[in-house]
Amino acid sequence: MAALHLSNISKKFAEVLAVDDLSLDVADGEFVVLLGPSGCGKTTTLRMIAGFIEASAGAVRIGARDVTHDPPYRRNVGFVFQNYALFPHLTVAENVAFGLRRRRRPEREIAERVARALALVKLEGFETRMPRQLSGGQQQRVAIARALVIAPDVLLLDEPLSNLDAKLRRDVRAELRRLQQLSGITTVMVTHDQDEAMSIGDRLVVMNHGRVQQIGTPQALYRHPANRFVAGFIGRGNFLAGAPGADGRSFVTRGGLAIICARIDLGADTLLIRPENIAVHPGRASGVNCFAAVIEAAVFQGSAFDLDLRLATGETLEAQVAAGNAAADWTVGQQVTAMIDPDAAVGIVSSSSLPA
Ligand SMILES: Nc1ncnc2c1ncn2[C@@H]1O[C@H](COP(=O)(O)OP(=O)(O)OP(=O)(O)O)[C@@H](O)[C@H]1O
Ligand SMILES: [Mg+2]
Repeated sequence: MAALHLSNISKKFAEVLAVDDLSLDVADGEFVVLLGPSGCGKTTTLRMIAGFIEASAGAVRIGARDVTHDPPYRRNVGFVFQNYALFPHLTVAENVAFGLRRRRRPEREIAERVARALALVKLEGFETRMPRQLSGGQQQRVAIARALVIAPDVLLLDEPLSNLDAKLRRDVRAELRRLQQLSGITTVMVTHDQDEAMSIGDRLVVMNHGRVQQIGTPQALYRHPANRFVAGFIGRGNFLAGAPGADGRSFVTRGGLAIICARIDLGADTLLIRPENIAVHPGRASGVNCFAAVIEAAVFQGSAFDLDLRLATGETLEAQVAAGNAAADWTVGQQVTAMIDPDAAVGIVSSSSLPA
């Protein structure tokens, strides 16, 4: 086990700058998630850590070792690929044993470690099955056992849950988190699913076009996104165009609403309000950040209602409010008051790259 340090790494494929000057320090035992849209450089970053491709610039260190120019087998890294391909002609046990055999460990030790790895992913009794005789989730767990069995310093997971249905995905995700905490292995996982990233990562790295947009805890990214891209990628939000007000505490929307907010970044041109930070009251109410609105759409989600609200200025807001009993249901056309939580609205800069 060891910390992982990426210092200003870049990867250029002919004309494509797939990863652009990425720096990241992952603490020993930390679980970091790389998150971003398709093609933003997530897999390329993992492959540079693993050594399947060499960085065009920058350095990769694992613990005190500079592994920038080392081949994969010298880095002691476990890797679960995007499509978790197992060897189809090998049994479960042989799949898991693969890395140990290549390291020429004695048979006794291999048998013990394989058994332990399979127990960890709760697949005891599956040793002699072939991959085609397993469900998708079981195959993914074999792939994880195969990566863990070599006791890697760093575990790299590239969308390890992508082929699972929603329910199984949640189960395997919780399992993965448990395993990681149990084993204490420094882990970097790739996903483009923000819910997954938030629920599993100690810290998240949001990328776009090969560049890091922001690094932080799920809470920090959700509440204080560095820019519009991060805000839109992590969670849902309302984005109102406008400018900081003269009083220094409010943001004035293009429609002319002055909204008191918790924080206004330098050069802010967009106000971010998360749907759950808007309270809705029937009829008229007054107070800080209270605005008259009409419900344009009301979608019942079980525990909550998603409401589309139109303000007098013509601007619209999406609100998410807890659903009560049937008597308190919301209806289209209803006159309401939207109350925007002043502690939760933040004025951000819309441009998608970080200031230098
Ligand atoms: N071997 C290669 N040769 C040329 N271009 C490549 C190569 N591998 C990746 N790229 C390009 O680099 C960019 C980043 O690719 P990468 O696979 O890292 O994206 P990703 O974030 O993992 O996307 P996804 O979510 O779709 O898996 C893309 O534009 C891709 O086309
Ligand atoms: Mg990828």
